[in-house]
Amino acid sequence: MKFVAIPLTALALLASSSAMASEELAKQKACLACHQVAAKLVGPAYKDVAAKYKDDKGAEAKLATKIRAGGVGVWGQIPMPANPAVSEAEAKALAKWVLAMK
Ligand code: HEC
Repeated sequence: MKFVAIPLTALALLASSSAMASEELAKQKACLACHQVAAKLVGPAYKDVAAKYKDDKGAEAKLATKIRAGGVGVWGQIPMPANPAVSEAEAKALAKWVLAMK
């Protein structure tokens, strides 16, 4: 995992100065217990999420809402639980971070 994470982080840093903070945030909020950047775990790979919504202008807001409220049925029958410890601003930052992975 380390050898994948380092170049990705470097790319993300080029794309946005807050990318690093968002990865830390994802760790802190335990998103990475169910998600990986490049592989499906319990939830979809973040790269797959970014690919799915690449032409969807409303995706950031939609995903930010889903990150906080949870939901099911988009990627399968395993639900994502609500994440009440994530603030609205944090959810937006996380949605942006996920969508920036191409
Ligand atoms: C308990 C496991 C679990 C945790 C913790 C979790 N997720 Fe998920 N996540 C899932 C599952 C399962 C799905 C697929 C839901 C579906 O099919 O609608 C998902 C879907 C998503 C999606 C895609 C939503 C869509 O509608 O396409 C995003 C973005 C996402 N998660 C981000 C996060 C973030 C950010 C966090 C941390 C705050 C997080 N997840 C924490 C399991 C989890």
